[in-house]
Amino acid sequence: MMKTSITSLVAIATSYLLLIITPTQKSTYHSLFISNSVSDNASISHHLKTLTRRPHTAGSEANAEAAAYVASVFTSSDIASHVASYQVALTYPLSRSLLLTNPPPEPPITFTLHQETYEGDPYADVADEAVPTFHAYAKSGSASGPVCYVNYGRVEDYVTLKEKSGVNVSGTVVLARYGKIFRGDIVRNAYEEGAVGVVIYSDRKDYGGDGEAQWFPRDKWLPPSGVQVGSVYDGKGDPTTPGWASCGECERLNEDEVEKEGDVPLIPSLPVSAADGEKILRSIGGPVAEDDWQGSKDAPVYRVGPGPGILNLSYTGQQVISTIQNVIGVIEGAEEPDRFVILGNHRDAWTFGAVDPNSGTAALLEVAQRLGKLQKRGWKPRRTIILCNWDAEEYGLIGSTEWVEENREILASKAVAYLNTDCAVGGPGFKARATPQLDELIKKATHQVRDPDNSSQSIFESWTGSSSSPLLGRLGGGGSDYASFVQHVGIPAADIAFGGDIAAYPVYHSLYDDFVWMERFGDPMFQRHVAAASVWGLVALWLADEEFLPFDYLSYAKELQHGVEKLEDEISNKDIYLSPIFRSIKGLQKAAIKINDQRREMETSKGWITWKKDQLKVRELNDRLMMAERAFTDRDGLFGMSWYKHLIYGPSKHNDYGSQSFPGIDDAVKMAKNLDTAESWHRVQHEVWRVSRVITHASLVLVGQLT
Ligand SMILES: *[C@@H]1O[C@H](CO)[C@@H](O)[C@H](O)[C@H]1NC(C)=O
Ligand SMILES: *[C@@H]1O[C@H](CO)[C@@H](O)[C@H](O)[C@H]1NC(C)=O
Ligand SMILES: *[C@@H]1O[C@H](CO)[C@@H](O)[C@H](O)[C@H]1NC(C)=O
Ligand SMILES: *[C@@H]1O[C@H](CO)[C@@H](O)[C@H](O)[C@H]1NC(C)=O
Repeated sequence: MMKTSITSLVAIATSYLLLIITPTQKSTYHSLFISNSVSDNASISHHLKTLTRRPHTAGSEANAEAAAYVASVFTSSDIASHVASYQVALTYPLSRSLLLTNPPPEPPITFTLHQETYEGDPYADVADEAVPTFHAYAKSGSASGPVCYVNYGRVEDYVTLKEKSGVNVSGTVVLARYGKIFRGDIVRNAYEEGAVGVVIYSDRKDYGGDGEAQWFPRDKWLPPSGVQVGSVYDGKGDPTTPGWASCGECERLNEDEVEKEGDVPLIPSLPVSAADGEKILRSIGGPVAEDDWQGSKDAPVYRVGPGPGILNLSYTGQQVISTIQNVIGVIEGAEEPDRFVILGNHRDAWTFGAVDPNSGTAALLEVAQRLGKLQKRGWKPRRTIILCNWDAEEYGLIGSTEWVEENREILASKAVAYLNTDCAVGGPGFKARATPQLDELIKKATHQVRDPDNSSQSIFESWTGSSSSPLLGRLGGGGSDYASFVQHVGIPAADIAFGGDIAAYPVYHSLYDDFVWMERFGDPMFQRHVAAASVWGLVALWLADEEFLPFDYLSYAKELQHGVEKLEDEISNKDIYLSPIFRSIKGLQKAAIKINDQRREMETSKGWITWKKDQLKVRELNDRLMMAERAFTDRDGLFGMSWYKHLIYGPSKHNDYGSQSFPGIDDAVKMAKNLDTAESWHRVQHEVWRVSRVITHASLVLVGQLT
C-alpha cells in the first residue's frame, strides 16, 4: 500500500517535472541548434567539395559514391540510415547531331554540342564524365526543316507569331529560348503547333549578363558554350511505373504505353549553347520579331522565319533500367515515434551540381550534424525526424516519387509535414514556398535567424524588404521533390532557398555549376548555407518537438479567399456560381478558429493530475491538424491527370513550373474561354463544386465530429 502510493507519487512528480521542464529544455535545444557553437561553415564547404568532385548523374557510379558519403555523415552523427533503392527507367544519349544549312554563300555548320573547359579549370580532367548535352526522355529520331524562332515557346508566343507575323510553324524545326516555362512544355507546345523538332538555347540576354558582362570563371554568367541540360518529361516518377513503385520485378509499361500516358515528348529535341543559338538565329529571315523577342543590344536582329536556314536534328537515346539510391536517415521520436517530420533534398546532378542540388545536400548534412550534437547533449525529438536524400530528381522527381508511391498509406496516416530544399543556395535573398498552414511558422523561423548578408537584421527583415509582409510562394508547380508529398498524398509541405533565379544563378544545369562557381559567386563564405540549414532545421525542430502542431489553418482560409477573388475577376462576365466555394471557405475559417480556441484552452487548463488523459487529447487534436491537408485531395484527382489528387495545389497544363491555385478550375476556365460552349462552362461549374467539397471536408476534419 505504502509502496504503491510512493511509486505513484514518484510517477506523478516525474510527469509534473516533465511537463514543467520539457518545454524549457526543448527551446534551449532549439536556440542551441541555430547558435554559432554548433554551426560550421567550413564543414559545409567540405561536404560540398566532396559531393561535387565528379559529375554524378542518376544511375552513375559517382552518384552511388556520393550516396555512400551521405550515409557516412549520417552514421557519424549517430543517425541510423538505410538505402531505399529502386530500379527505374532512365535515358542517356547514344548519338546527337545538329546541322544547319545556311543559304549560300554561307557554309553549312555542324555543331559540336560540346561545353568547353577553361584554362586552370580544376575539373577539366573529369569534365568528360558529364553526360553529353541532351534532353532526358527526348524522343529518338531525326527531324529536319526550315527554322522558326518562337521566343520562349509559350502558348502565347505562338499566338503572337500567328497574329503579328502570320507564321505557321507546322513542319518546321523551332528554335526556342530557355527561361519562362518548363522545357518539357516548350517541346509539348511546339508539338501541338505541328513542329517536327525543337532546339532550345540559352540567350545571352537572360543567361550571359545581357551582352556586356564577362562570364565564368571571371563572372557568374554562363559562358558562350554553356548548355542547360534537363528533362523534358512532364510526369512525376518513373514513366514506366505510373502510380506504383519501381522494383526489380514489377509491372512496367512498354514504350507505346508510356507515350499514351502523354507525359513524354513525341518529337525530338536538343539543348544548345548561346553561341550556337545565335548562329541559328543569323540563318533565319522573314518578319522581324517583336521588340521583347529580341536579344542583347549587340546581338543580331532576330527574325521569325521560317528559314531560309534549315536544321537537321538527330537524336538517339537509350533507355536503361538503372538502380537509384535514396538515403534515408531516421531519428526516432521519444514520445510519438509514429509521427513523421520529413526533410528532403536530392543528390543527383546533371553535372557537378554545386548549386543544384548539392548546396541543399550540404545543408542537409549540416542539419544532420547539428542534430547529432543536440543528441549528444541529451535532446530527443518528441516525433520522428526523417532525413531523405533523393536520387534521380533531375529525370522527373523519380527517387522521391517512387518512395512516396511505395509508402503512400503509411505516409498518409503518419506524416506531419515534408520540408524540401533543392538549390538551397544560388545567391543572396531568402525565398520560401509552402502550404499555407505553415506560413506563420516559416516567418517565425526567419525572425530568429540572422540575415547571412547583413548581420544587423534578421532574414525576415531582409525578406520582407520594404513591403509589410514577405511573399510566400505555393507548391502547385512540379519543380522539386515536394510534388508527390503535396500533390499526390496531401501532406503539408514547404520549400526554402537562398537566391536561385536565373539572374543570380545563370549556370543552372550546365558544366559550370561547380564548387569554384559556388566559392566565387554563390556563397563565398558559406554563411548562406549556414542560414539555410538554420531555418530549415528550426522549422523541423518545432514541428517535431512542440506538443501542439504549430499549424494555422486561418492562413489557409485567407489564401483560398484570395484565390477565389482572383478567379472571380477572371470570369466576372460569365454565369458561374462561386458561392459554394465562398461558403466552404467561411466554414474552413470557422473550423480554424474553433480548433485554435480548443488548443488554447487545452494549453491553459491542463492539470498535472490528468496528464495521461491530456496526452491523448493533445494527440487527437494534432491528428485533426495533420489530416486536414489530406482532405484537399480527391480520389479521382485532377481532370485528365488522375495522379494529381490535390485539388487546391497542382500543375498548370502548359507550364509544369507554374504554380496554380485550383488547377482544375483554372484549366476548365482556359478551355471554356477557348471553346465558349455551354458544356465547357458547365464543366467550370462542376470543378467549382469539386473544390468547394474538398474545402468542406477539410473543415469537417478540423472540427473532428461525425455528422
Ligand atoms: C537535311 O534535311 C533535308 C530535308 O529537310 C534533307 O533534304 C537533307 O538531305 C538533310 N541533310 C542531311 C545532311 O541529312
Ligand atoms: C498550319 O499548316 C498546317 C500544314 O500546312 C495546316 O494543316 C494547319 O491547318 C495550319 N494551321 C493554321 C492555324 O493555319
Ligand atoms: C543592414 O541592415 C540594417 C538594419 O536593417 C540596414 O539599416 C542596412 O541598410 C542594411 N545594410 C545593407 C547593406 O543592406
Ligand atoms: C566561414 O565564415 C568565416 C566568417 O564569416 C570566414 O572568415 C571563413 O572564411 C568562412 N569559411 C569558409 C570555408 O568559407
